[in-house]
Amino acid sequence: AMPAQVAALVGRMTLEEKAGQLTLNAAAWSGGIATGLNPPAAGGVSFDQQLADAVAGRLTGVFNGNGAEMARRMQGAVMRGSRLKIPLIFAADVIHGHRTIFPVPVAEAASFEPSLAERTARVAAYEAAAAGIDWTFFPMVDIARDQRWGRTMEGAGEDVLVGNLFAAARVRGFQGQDLKANDAMMACVKHFAAYGAVAAGLDYNEVDMSERTLREVYLPPYKSGFDAGALSGMASFNEISGIPSHGNPWLMQTVLRDEWKFPGIIVSDYTGDEEMIAAGFAKDGRDAARIAFLAGVDMCMQSNLYMLHLPGLVRDGLVPQEVLDRSVRRVLMVKHRLGLFDDPFRRIDVKREKARSRTKASLALAREAGRKSIVLLKNDGDLLPLPKAGRRLALIGPFASGQHDLNGPWVVYGDNGQAVDLATGLRAAMADPALLSVTAGSGVEAALPGGIDAAVAAAQAADIVLLAIGESETMSGEAQSRTEIVVPAPQQALAEAVAATGKPVVVILKNGRGLALHGAVRDAPAILMTWFLGSESGHATADVLFGDYSPSARLPISLPFESGQEPYHYDHKATGRPAPAGPRQPYKTQYREAPNAALYPFGHGLTYGRPDYAGLTLGSPTLPWDGAIEIAATVRNGGTRAIEEVVQLYIRDRVASITRPVRQLKGFRKVALAPGASETVRFTLRRADLLFYGVDNQPTVEPGTFDVWIAPSAQAEGVHGTFDLTQA
Ligand code: IFM
Repeated sequence: AMPAQVAALVGRMTLEEKAGQLTLNAAAWSGGIATGLNPPAAGGVSFDQQLADAVAGRLTGVFNGNGAEMARRMQGAVMRGSRLKIPLIFAADVIHGHRTIFPVPVAEAASFEPSLAERTARVAAYEAAAAGIDWTFFPMVDIARDQRWGRTMEGAGEDVLVGNLFAAARVRGFQGQDLKANDAMMACVKHFAAYGAVAAGLDYNEVDMSERTLREVYLPPYKSGFDAGALSGMASFNEISGIPSHGNPWLMQTVLRDEWKFPGIIVSDYTGDEEMIAAGFAKDGRDAARIAFLAGVDMCMQSNLYMLHLPGLVRDGLVPQEVLDRSVRRVLMVKHRLGLFDDPFRRIDVKREKARSRTKASLALAREAGRKSIVLLKNDGDLLPLPKAGRRLALIGPFASGQHDLNGPWVVYGDNGQAVDLATGLRAAMADPALLSVTAGSGVEAALPGGIDAAVAAAQAADIVLLAIGESETMSGEAQSRTEIVVPAPQQALAEAVAATGKPVVVILKNGRGLALHGAVRDAPAILMTWFLGSESGHATADVLFGDYSPSARLPISLPFESGQEPYHYDHKATGRPAPAGPRQPYKTQYREAPNAALYPFGHGLTYGRPDYAGLTLGSPTLPWDGAIEIAATVRNGGTRAIEEVVQLYIRDRVASITRPVRQLKGFRKVALAPGASETVRFTLRRADLLFYGVDNQPTVEPGTFDVWIAPSAQAEGVHGTFDLTQA
């Protein structure tokens, strides 16, 4: 409960001061480190003007500001000069690290290790909170089943279970044990809701979706984040079936407040309230403010519409005073929970900000997270790991070296100049760094004059080619939808030319989304998916390339054969004409150019060992209605190197009143296996694990037969069995 003096503030506030508590704007301070704004604010207010607004009670706080010094000045002015002395709240997009940059979130999800994401979030909070930041706009938990969508890189991929676990882990990491602590920040579950389902993967586009799919696939990760204690959420830019999320009371009242009992605040996404005008849902700014506020957006980011219109809307009887007071109370409550009323400066400390930035421990964690995010897609003839000596290596490609494209998209405070590039990382690991040659060969999206010739010469002079190609930082992320999710043409040409030398090629992909691999890239004997790994990119990649670490990551997204398969996800329906394995048959569910399958499926990822799956055992042939069933398999590492294997449990509900996906992930475990070692991996399923949304959109379970697999990916057979769910 809030202390009485805080609660009593509401009674003392003017309508303008109340609207002010619901108004969050981009920080205007331009000194110090860069401000990431989206879109960049043009001709915004001056810092002095913003300071005056804050002191006048017209601002609840600012976001994406410039660290502790700025926060100290603003908070100081408000605590000295404002009428009610309500502390400001400082927010920022601390997405995958603050000054130490960790892998982009989808990469980290590839670790299939939620506790890793919790640890990196903890460190991000430790660094960022010292810069005076109370609130991060993270985690992004939008399920992404369409790789054309650029923001795939910001979430945890296509799967509901992985999405749920990472959402909760990230919230716990940021919020810590004690939200008042000076290394804890409020998390923000975003973007509510179904932003990842934008039609055709086009950012900001419409979503038209059944309530069933919404509840079964898209909503659970938000719920998981809120259940983990996130005290804020952000509305999404998309509409759902004709209703913009910023104006959707069903989402923000019925589901969020009535069903989920969410106590915290909902903030608009930037000018998302105002954007309802362009979308054709609101007449003007006043209308947009009324619609958004009454639908359940407590706080207005950047458009200033609440400040401009809420007082008048209340005076004119169009917004009830109690609704305004309720949102103000929620804002005061989160400020209280963050400890700001006890000490408005608790997170603001210039010295601590420096001391906590890029420590040895945080960089070590960035390296660990980096190598645990790298997916080994292919390793024909055990080309990897590479020997550290005795081989001439040609590192070729636009991402071979240089202080660019290391951190990845959505970094407000990190510096690519401080990150370790690939060439540096490889040299540091090699016994004789002189055996490494480095050639760009191509630009990212444009050819380099003479580039291919230089690359071919470098390849010819080497024993092994390392081809660092893929997407630049600006090619994924917000508003970076693509029609073809392929390696850009000049780099594909580079790959073809280099492969034609006949030298063995290791493709080192950089990417923020799933890509469709073609030609020499697809056919290379070894392929590593390295995403954007952050501060320790080069070292983390070298750890895997040279075998100091056996890759353990798995795809959290499916890689299709062709772009045109998107949206493709492993947990699709069978259709009435499923395509059987084996030779192509006519009139089945498939494209002319591709099967209805992934080239590299969800869950796929190789190690440097040889994991064998044997002997699926079921605790009993039936799962009793109120009981549990144990499902186990033995996994043995028949290889010569120690590995970590991500063992996955999938089910299929054979017949139901609503058709069910061909497979659904129901559990996974990462097990360490020394050479020759084996382990029996056990999972338990209960009725609750078999829930789906029935004809009435209510959670339901039906008795019947279930397939179960313990397997190394969504498309691998692994070991299989069946059980029956029986009703007593
Ligand atoms: O947090 C972000 C959001 O994800 C996209 N629009 C801008 C917000 C604040 O920077």
